[in-house]
Amino acid sequence: MAIVNAISNRFDELDEKIKFQREKEAQREKERLQRVQLFRDIFKTKYWNLGTDVDSLINQLEELGYFYAPASTKYHGTYIGGLFDHSWRVTKELVNLTTSLDLDWQRIESPYIVGMFHDLCKCDDYIYDPSGERFGHRDDLILNGHGEKSVIMAQKLLDLTDEEIACIRWHMGAYDNKENWNILGRAIEKYPNVLYTHTADMIATRIRGI
Ligand SMILES: [Fe+2]
Repeated sequence: MAIVNAISNRFDELDEKIKFQREKEAQREKERLQRVQLFRDIFKTKYWNLGTDVDSLINQLEELGYFYAPASTKYHGTYIGGLFDHSWRVTKELVNLTTSLDLDWQRIESPYIVGMFHDLCKCDDYIYDPSGERFGHRDDLILNGHGEKSVIMAQKLLDLTDEEIACIRWHMGAYDNKENWNILGRAIEKYPNVLYTHTADMIATRIRGI
């Protein structure tokens, strides 16, 4: 009888685990759909000159894992969907800076494009298990780099303006390699929004914590 009870308890434990896992998956799927909807809302209402339609953009982003990827493996946004949440926060900060400081852009959609795509490289850089509990760096990358890789990936989705390319490439500011600081300085002089993009990224990570 004791053995039967022990087996029965084991089954109960297993049932609980499976139930918990299914609820977690359902919650993650719900959050993914919310992020996709938010993306659609942003780009449908704000954009009319993308050269692509929002659904094809979403399909390509889904293939990249954009709505699932974390924003980092240990610093900020280390959870499934963290990259999207971080990108949206940066976008909001960049839009705030644009409005309050009356910033000019080569096209008015740029704060949204730069904000949402500045960290696109992270779709490719990280590995994470489906439970969203373990995150790491891939060791089989074909493309390395950060800002430059994000530019390459974003260019496959959209035609970027020169200013958007500069903002995404240099969004790390002086966190980039020291030997690049002269080029960073030139980029800021030519496109002041490079500095504001970096500032928006810093506000998101260092002040808002996302
Ligand atoms: Fe970022």
